[in-house]
Amino acid sequence: MVDLKGMRAIVTGASSGIGEQLARQLAARGVNLVITARRTDRLDALATDLRARHAVEVDVVSLDLGRPDAPAELFARTEGAGKAVDILLNNAGFGTQDAFVEIPWERVREQLQLNVVSLTELTQLFAKAMLARGRGWVLNVASIGAYMPVPDYATYAAGKAYVRNFTEALAHELRGTPVRVCCLCPGGTATEFMAVSGQELPSALKVTLMSPERCARIGLDALFAGRRNIIAGWMNSIGMWALRFAPRRLIVRIAALVMEKPRKAKQLPA
Ligand SMILES: NC(=O)c1ccc[n+]([C@@H]2O[C@H](COP(=O)([O-])OP(=O)(O)OC[C@H]3O[C@@H](n4cnc5c(N)ncnc54)[C@H](OP(=O)(O)O)[C@@H]3O)[C@@H](O)[C@H]2O)c1
Repeated sequence: MVDLKGMRAIVTGASSGIGEQLARQLAARGVNLVITARRTDRLDALATDLRARHAVEVDVVSLDLGRPDAPAELFARTEGAGKAVDILLNNAGFGTQDAFVEIPWERVREQLQLNVVSLTELTQLFAKAMLARGRGWVLNVASIGAYMPVPDYATYAAGKAYVRNFTEALAHELRGTPVRVCCLCPGGTATEFMAVSGQELPSALKVTLMSPERCARIGLDALFAGRRNIIAGWMNSIGMWALRFAPRRLIVRIAALVMEKPRKAKQLPA
């Protein structure tokens, strides 16, 4: 196991779900943290708890990463303030379950900025600094949605496909350097994601959700083992492997069966 004690990590989207668990698990390994999201009260409570439990430094940076200037601000408030970052966890993200034409453009723009553009800019800013210092790890959180087109999550899934391809290509570019890059693809996970996206999951499917603790553990284990991509959970892994053999039109129909909003046909214009 890599000894992380005394290193510093940034966790984006640390105010809930998988991001909060990533922060908790790194703090338990002695890693100093910069935790960021918009809900300052949640971040402050987490910071107080982690300082008390693990005697680590925790800086809270309240930031809306749906704004184009936010990645540069986060870099300025960490590396720019003399705080070297060894580990970057690009976890913040959201989806919206609806027909593409029904989602207000500002919401689509914010999602692409957060899930795709800010993640990419943060990766470039911090990976450069890591390379210059001679060590570093970057975990980009995608989704199993990266493996298929998903009706009613069209831009979300397409953005996650970008994250997966971008991360795997970068991992190849950085082979032979001391900087490791890994993509985590969670399946359904019991967080606030669906409350935010507006998706009502049938009770029968709720029991299939993974815990955010387990998902975070899988991501961190893969990152520090030098993996380039990890699908969270063996059921999801088998499912994504099987998709290789299905025609794309069938894949879209299967994705629609699980993810489409029930009333969609009535809402689309004729
Ligand atoms: N849960 C799932 O089923 C699932 C499946 C596949 C992939 N994922 C991915 O896993 C990652 C974590 O999501 P989660 O499941 O843990 O959901 P979550 O509980 O809703 O957490 C999302 C985090 O992102 C932050 N965030 C949202 N908008 C932001 C913004 N504009 N600026 C800064 N931070 C923002 C939220 O904090 P604030 O609201 O306080 O800003 C929150 O901390 C996401 O990238 C998601 O796409 C989740």
